[in-house]
Amino acid sequence: MKIKYLLPALFLLSTGVTAVLAAEKQTPPTDYHKAQWDPLHFPPAIDSATNEQCLNCHQEILQRKVLASSPAGVPATSTLAWYQTLETYEGPQETFHRRHLSTPYAKKIMDMKCTTCHQGSNPREEAPIPPDLKNTRFTLRKQVNPKTCLMCHGSFPDYKRMGLPSHWNESRDMFQNNCLLCHAGVRTNRHKVNFLKPEAIEEAGKKSADVCFGCHGGRQWYRISYPYPRHAWKGMAEEIPDWAKDRPTESDPRFRTKQQQAQK
Ligand code: HEC
Ligand code: HEC
Ligand code: HEC
Ligand code: HEC
Ligand code: HEC
Repeated sequence: MKIKYLLPALFLLSTGVTAVLAAEKQTPPTDYHKAQWDPLHFPPAIDSATNEQCLNCHQEILQRKVLASSPAGVPATSTLAWYQTLETYEGPQETFHRRHLSTPYAKKIMDMKCTTCHQGSNPREEAPIPPDLKNTRFTLRKQVNPKTCLMCHGSFPDYKRMGLPSHWNESRDMFQNNCLLCHAGVRTNRHKVNFLKPEAIEEAGKKSADVCFGCHGGRQWYRISYPYPRHAWKGMAEEIPDWAKDRPTESDPRFRTKQQQAQK
């Protein structure tokens, strides 16, 4: 056989062999597989799953601890990230999940569920072929849609729209470092979603603007700001500014409270 035919032939032979091997290796589903493919992981069941249901199998999520020191030997107690210098940051280093679900500050201002972030990504279909543009839940090789994070980790919204002379980092002193100087009267209908505690946020925001700034620029992972819904408020001008014309006027349906959903 000429070398030109030998390679494809070898290729065919080898794929045939691996196919046979794979078939032999296949074992019947174990409990592990059953659990991984538990219907609770996927829509529609995940949409109404409770934290308790998820934690039945995933207790480790809230129990894990951060390493005492990095593999290179830097102790966790000696490192502080820039966002950890906000007034609101308390206590020793914690895992990502605990910071959002079980630290005292998280519990005070938020009421996050596993399903606030996890919407049931399919571990097999990391990228659908052909692409399905209608499937807007799909998170392309990620387990969580980064848009969810953007709500609380975006940049400070456009300061010009707020009538501020510059970014909060420069102009905060002119406004007594107090967002409520304006926000006691502007966009007052806020945070009424099923993963936040709106009254507690207002209370805490009165004591420290870092509470407000924390979720609106102070813990910024992204260069953009979230296009928040623009809920009508008392005393709002009738004319809608150009930048707000395509903004929704209500929160995402998946974040509405049970009462709000019942009213629909
Ligand atoms: C019956 C037990 C069980 C329940 C209930 C369960 N899980 Fe899982 N989950 C598993 C197992 C097993 C895996 C596979 C773990 C692995 O491969 O490390 C898994 C994997 C995951 C993963 C990683 C998926 C990936 O792509 O690697 C996430 C995220 C997850 N579960 C979230 C949840 C959430 C949120 C809930 C509640 C809605 C939930 N699980 C309920 C058993 C369960
Ligand atoms: C603030 C958003 C958020 C919340 C709330 C959240 N998760 Fe996660 N979770 C993530 C992110 C982000 C990852 C990492 C995803 C990746 O690596 O692609 C993750 C990873 C996981 C994993 C797989 C990796 C691991 O660390 O073992 C499991 C299992 C999981 N989460 C379960 C849960 C459960 C159970 C809850 C509720 C008790 C929960 N999560 C709440 C965002 C969240
Ligand atoms: C509802 C608002 C909210 C959402 C949504 C949210 N976060 Fe956070 N995140 C916070 C708050 C508040 C803190 C700071 C808690 C503190 O200072 O104790 C935080 C802290 C963090 C930290 C720092 C943890 C530490 O201890 O150093 C990381 C990293 C982070 N978030 C990433 C994410 C990612 C990734 C997502 C999306 C999967 C996400 N967050 C979604 C509010 C949110
Ligand atoms: C000088 C008054 C003023 C101050 C101070 C101020 N804001 Fe605003 N803010 C506004 C105005 C005005 C709007 C736009 C109202 C509208 O929708 O027409 C706005 C809008 C917003 C929005 C919605 C942005 C969007 O894209 O929909 C957020 C979030 C916000 N402000 C947070 C804050 C936070 C957090 C602080 C403090 C760190 C703060 N603001 C300080 C006046 C102010
Ligand atoms: C834990 C994170 C968090 C904190 C703390 C926080 N916000 Fe927000 N804020 C959000 C999220 C998430 C939304 C969008 C909610 C939704 O989808 O309706 C939002 C929306 C807003 C909006 C738009 C309101 C609308 O719907 O028209 C304004 C204005 C705002 N926040 C100002 C503030 C002010 C002022 C404070 C302090 C008193 C504050 N935020 C504290 C996370 C936070």
